[in-house]
Amino acid sequence: MHIDTAEFVISNTDIKKCPESTLPEYAFIGRSNVGKSSLINMLTQRKTLAKTSGRPGKTQLINHFLINKTWYLVDLPGYGYAKVSKSAKQTFVKLITDYIELRPNLTNLFVLIDIRLEPQKIDLEFIEYLGEHGIPFSLVFTKADKIGKSQRQKSIARFRRKMLEKWEEMPVQFLTSAEERIGRDEVLSYISSINLKLEGK
Ligand code: GTP
Ligand code: MG
Repeated sequence: MHIDTAEFVISNTDIKKCPESTLPEYAFIGRSNVGKSSLINMLTQRKTLAKTSGRPGKTQLINHFLINKTWYLVDLPGYGYAKVSKSAKQTFVKLITDYIELRPNLTNLFVLIDIRLEPQKIDLEFIEYLGEHGIPFSLVFTKADKIGKSQRQKSIARFRRKMLEKWEEMPVQFLTSAEERIGRDEVLSYISSINLKLEGK
């Protein structure tokens, strides 16, 4: 898929103020600093469309980007950032869960997992929550450039083993690096195939 236009639309903390829910929408979620905003920039090939930072906790709002005037990419705040206060954490959790549970045009949630880490409890719990709510999601392993090729497959297999302790089958998975532009075609083709289905083509 070619990205002709990628426009920032609105940032907000109130799901009622999100753009009208008439277009398919793909959102990115995961632990703080996992690379959600960087992935959005890599996919759209716009270096500064979504704000990124080496310090966790950068994205604090729901950010809508309109792509090719026909669908949205959504950058969400991260979960699990230890250094924010309890009340700030609760605010983020509410923002994220409200968005996930109440946004009618949320078509697929990409759950980002840092490929370098052992399966994290917080990610597994979040995935379980998605299952309980019947939210369609796929997994995106990020920062593949940080480890060697054989380690990448081992790490994905390790996550799969852990997930299959609770799940009967695995969701769609992607291997990505925003740094080395790995996985761009795969993620965009996946979005494109869903968009075509929704259009009845
Ligand atoms: P919050 O908004 O704080 O939740 O973080 P985020 O998930 O949006 O992460 P962000 O995209 O801001 O990236 C966090 C840090 O990881 C930045 O320093 C990025 O440069 C770095 N980073 C993101 N993706 C990659 C990647 O694929 N490879 C490498 N090497 N670094 C990455
Ligand atoms: Mg971010």
